[in-house]
Amino acid sequence: MALIRRACLDDAKRIWQIQTDSIRSVCRTHYQPDVIEAWASQLKPSSYEVPIEEREVIVAEQHGQVVGFGQLNLETHEMETLYVDSEQIGKGIGAELLKSLESIAHQNGVIELKIASSLNAVSFYQKHGYQQICKMPEEVPSPVLVCVGMSKSLDNASSELKFSESQSN
Ligand SMILES: CC(C)(COP(=O)(O)OP(=O)(O)OC[C@H]1O[C@@H](n2cnc3c(N)ncnc32)[C@H](O)[C@@H]1OP(=O)(O)O)[C@@H](O)C(=O)NCCC(=O)NCCS
Repeated sequence: MALIRRACLDDAKRIWQIQTDSIRSVCRTHYQPDVIEAWASQLKPSSYEVPIEEREVIVAEQHGQVVGFGQLNLETHEMETLYVDSEQIGKGIGAELLKSLESIAHQNGVIELKIASSLNAVSFYQKHGYQQICKMPEEVPSPVLVCVGMSKSLDNASSELKFSESQSN
């Protein structure tokens, strides 16, 4: 089981490595090479600094190493990113991060959580109760990145505390 904690600015470079590596290795099954490169290359370690300070960004840590992260925007009720180290996928880390983000959203009064899912992750979210609403282009530099708009009602979400301000594991 991973340690789930809030991200700090020192995590920005590792988060960037995880996301850009995952885009190039995992997401490439569902997107053309030019889309993958435009998507990955627009990201910089500094891209994560404002979200870390102003939004809800959490990381999963194992043996002192960050192995995944997720980002939630409480103003738009949107889960903005969820990535697991490509060497560690399929081990339950994504599900743990997702539960923690849903818990944070629920504790902050969000009753419907939205996601713009990349095409390769749609079945993961379906498995976790999200329903497809629409196909939509994401606002990244051309060429357009097609995502799937999905949402889940958190009305019946367990109020059990799955994430605390300090740390949980
Ligand atoms: C999507 C992602 C975050 C899932 O994280 P993960 O740690 O691999 O997922 P888990 O191991 O927690 O999987 C939980 C369940 O979902 C299933 N699952 C995971 N990825 C899946 C996928 N792409 N399609 C279908 N099912 C999937 C697992 O088999 C597992 O099922 P089980 O509980 O019956 O064993 C991860 O695969 C990833 O980083 N993908 C690339 C980045 C990405 O596309 N992120 C989403 C951007 S919106």
